[in-house]
Amino acid sequence: MFLCICSAITEDQVHWAVRERGADSAEAVFEILAARPDCFRCVASLEEAVLAVRAGEPVRLMPEPAAAGPATTPWGCGGRCRPSWGSAGIAKAS
Ligand code: FES
Repeated sequence: MFLCICSAITEDQVHWAVRERGADSAEAVFEILAARPDCFRCVASLEEAVLAVRAGEPVRLMPEPAAAGPATTPWGCGGRCRPSWGSAGIAKAS
């Protein structure tokens, strides 16, 4: 599951950044992954994910599956915050 669409950061990458590199914040996750936030809509969700991983709890950011559409994001923009997501026009932050 993508937690940050702008930088294509997945839940697995957050787990890795926290467990293997000691990330303790969303800012640290971005830094460790050599990414940078663009729209900043994911930052609160990333912070929650970091806290959950550090506490050994599951990351629970998605709505219930019945309510989630294919373009649903953890922060509820439904993909509107990045309408060209997935197109060749998006460059991954480095
Ligand atoms: S979704 Fe993470 S910076 Fe935009």
